[in-house]
Formats: sequence, structure tokens, C-alpha cells
Amino acid sequence: MNAQPQKKTAVSKLTIPHKHLLSVENLAADDITAILDLAEYYVVQNRRRSQTNALLKGMVMVNMFLENSTRTRLSFEMAAKRLGADVINMTTEGSSIKKGESFIDTLKTVNAMRPDMFVIRHGEEGSALAASELIECPVLNAGDGTREHPTQALLDALTLRRHFGKLEGLTVSICGDVLHSRVAHSNLHLLKKMGATVKCVGPAELMPLSAGGTEDLKQGLQDADAVMVLRIQKERLQKELSFTQDQYFKTFGLTAERLGYAKDGAVVMHPGTMNRGVEIDAAIADDPKRSLITTQVEMGVAVRMACLDLLTRSTR
Ligand code: CP
Repeated sequence: MNAQPQKKTAVSKLTIPHKHLLSVENLAADDITAILDLAEYYVVQNRRRSQTNALLKGMVMVNMFLENSTRTRLSFEMAAKRLGADVINMTTEGSSIKKGESFIDTLKTVNAMRPDMFVIRHGEEGSALAASELIECPVLNAGDGTREHPTQALLDALTLRRHFGKLEGLTVSICGDVLHSRVAHSNLHLLKKMGATVKCVGPAELMPLSAGGTEDLKQGLQDADAVMVLRIQKERLQKELSFTQDQYFKTFGLTAERLGYAKDGAVVMHPGTMNRGVEIDAAIADDPKRSLITTQVEMGVAVRMACLDLLTRSTR
């Protein structure tokens, strides 16, 4: 296990032995470290005035989002453009999917145009894997149903590593709808691989048995260095919840007072979309001393630049 930054490795020497980025489950700790180390370099690049790097010049990335997104879609587009690639955005609206074209036929059509990188968000678990079996260029999973959202967990890890200087030994509490959250699932894999302790807290009806979570917020946040707050994924609920939004906020909503259950100086994270007054209080979400939420968004661009760079190294 190597959770520490590999400061001595030249960025040109960093590699991962993967053609696609489909899940964190398939990454080794060393792969994660390589991505984070390269992302550190791209944090600096992304802050420069003349940001565009010609690394991916002449390459075209298809950014296919068949579910709504603000952060991930823009971030992948910005990452590709910062590296000099051209980007084609595609959503359900305006596509032939609206006329009944199947997912598989859509993938075959895109592949026939020979893109150089393919990013996909889809509501079905396993859709990114299915795409990787049909699409010949590197495929990056931007969220497949409840299963995984690998670049979100990577950007969360970069945010944590920059704040604490390490991942190993941290305790991270994931609070909310763990059951339906691909962000939680990717983070559970990543944080455990990197030597962090993960605790889950939320209502039993939104907690998978495998997470071993608690409904006791005090217990769930105890000893946490960071609290990752999740929204309730209403679009994925199979049945009506037994509580209202107000009741949820009263029991599980993260406030400054409740953050006091965690370690002194514990930080707050949220992958978005954020529902103020439901899973998180606006005052703590906006507290610059405790909230890393906007940093997460910034780190997303750097992580995606690193992923695009690494996955195209053998094809450019
Ligand atoms: N974190 C995340 O996936 O946000 P978006 O749905 O806005 O992309």
C-alpha cells in the first residue's frame, strides 16, 4: 500500500495498467496514487492563465451524458479542453435515443466515428463496462446507476490528501443515502484501499447491510476527520421513504453543532447535488474553515486531466 504522494516520480513516468477507467474496485492502491500524483501537477496547470496544453491536440472526446449532470460533465469537458482536445457533448435530449435507438446501437454508432476518448454517464449499473466492450478507445465511467463514480472518489481523495497530507490513517464518515450512492460505493473502495477507516451513518432504509452503518449520528461521526454528506437519491428510490425531508434534517442533517461530534477541525465534503436544509445546513456548507466542497469541484478538473492523460498514453 502506498497512500503517500510519490513526489520523486516524474509525471511522464506515471502509468496505470488500464485501458479504461470503469471503477475504483478495479484499481490498485498504486494506480490511485499515480492518478493523484499526476493530478497534483494538473492542479497547477489548471490554475495558469494560458491553461491549454497541446497534449491531446487533434484528439476528440465524446462526452455522453444520458443522466443529468453539472459538475462531472463540465469538468470532463474542461479537462479535455485544457489538454487541447476537441469535445463533442451528447445528451439524451436531441439524440436518436429519443426516437427509440437502443443503447447498444448508439454505442456502435459512436464507435464507428472513431473517437479518441469516450466518457459515459448512464442510469444503469454496468453501462460503462458494456460501453468498454463495444467502444475501441479508452472509456471513462462518469457514473453508472448506483454502482460506481470513480472520478468522484478520486477527486475526493485528492481533496483529502491535499488537506491532511495523507489518506492512510484518516477516518471518514459517509452520511446519508449510502444505499443508492455510486459516490459512496466508489469512496468505500478507494478509502479502504488507501488505508483509511470508513464509517457509514444514515437511516437503516438507506443503508446497505454490507456497509455496517449506524443510525446514531453521534456514533457515526465520532472520530471522523472528514464527513462526506450525501443527498437522498430520490430518482433511484424503489419505495416511499418513511420520513419527510424536515424529519430527515432534524435527525441526520449536518449542522455546525453536529459536526462537533467529529474530531476538532473535521472537514465537510459533499459531491453535489446539494440540498441545503435537507442533508446539510447552509451555514456549514458555506463555512470556508470547514467546508471543502468548492475545492472538490476544482480538484475534479485536475483528476480528470490526469485520467485522460494516463489513459491516452499508449494511443497518442
Ligand atoms: N458529483 C456529481 O456527480 O455531480 P453531477 O451530477 O452534477 O455531475
